[in-house]
Amino acid sequence: IKHVGVFTSGGDSPGMNAALYAIAKAAEKNGIKLTGIKKGYEGLIDGDFTTLKSYDLQKLVHTGGTVLKTARSKRFMELEGRKKALQTLHTNHIDALIAIGGDGTFKGLLAFSEICDIPFIGIPGTIDNDISGTDYTLGFDSAVNTAIENIDKIRDTAESHNRIFIVEVMGKDSGYIAIHSGLTTGADAILIPESGKDFIYLLDKVKNYDSEDAFLVVVSEGDEIGAELLATKIKEINANVDLRITRLGHVQRGGNPSALDRMLGVRLGVAAIDVLLLGKKNVMAGVLNNQLHFTVFEEVVKQHQVNDELQELLELITN
Ligand code: F6P
Repeated sequence: IKHVGVFTSGGDSPGMNAALYAIAKAAEKNGIKLTGIKKGYEGLIDGDFTTLKSYDLQKLVHTGGTVLKTARSKRFMELEGRKKALQTLHTNHIDALIAIGGDGTFKGLLAFSEICDIPFIGIPGTIDNDISGTDYTLGFDSAVNTAIENIDKIRDTAESHNRIFIVEVMGKDSGYIAIHSGLTTGADAILIPESGKDFIYLLDKVKNYDSEDAFLVVVSEGDEIGAELLATKIKEINANVDLRITRLGHVQRGGNPSALDRMLGVRLGVAAIDVLLLGKKNVMAGVLNNQLHFTVFEEVVKQHQVNDELQELLELITN
């Protein structure tokens, strides 16, 4: 392997820059040329490249976002786009690829593997933590910390006004951010897509709710009911409740990566170069039980959902 291309794709997540730094460092140590591909699959198709040096990237390890920019590419979803991307790789003599991204990125890689003769390695980068083959994805811990910080602030005002607050957090179809941020802020109810019945238990709780107190609900954006309908249902039970909805939104995607995300980025970045040099291809580097683990893409794209143990915890704490 002499020339590696790297890109970030899908939603940005804190820790991506730390991973890029580690990839650059490991590439330099091994005499590998590294090319940064801008805006994910879009840059791969168009040949939108930049040079990456560890000297520049080390100043960005602590920053959120991605220095390579990112995009969700519609063109790459078509075979034509993927063929063009392969041609761009060949023209530029790139002989291996590293992709940092989430669920959509890995689905793209799986499709690409059908025509691509160049080895590639994936690194899980998404705040959603919805990828199999790793305990945590890059950015998840930072996003949860951001959510916690904000929910704590909401509690201050909720307690002062004895209000019900419905706080919607991100996570796409996965309840990981909701369950982690809800359980660690003392939420009265947590709604996640993985569990179908919690909406009813919440209404039961609201029936007995003491209006001389705050009541905090953390709801995942992927949960069936959604914040607005939930608010309507609560008001049907008690028209007098003082209720507000807060959508945390994209603040969860930004900000400095946590220590865990920086470390995960550094570990997975170096691991990606190491396995390429060992001749492995088309696997995602992740961490399972704190050990590096490499998983084939067919497994990676199977959704990683909140497990039974966490769901039981949710029952115990919020019922
Ligand atoms: O996948 C990361 C994520 O932030 C999800 O949690 C959310 O549903 C989605 O991306 C938002 O996407 P966009 O930034 O395109 O609005």
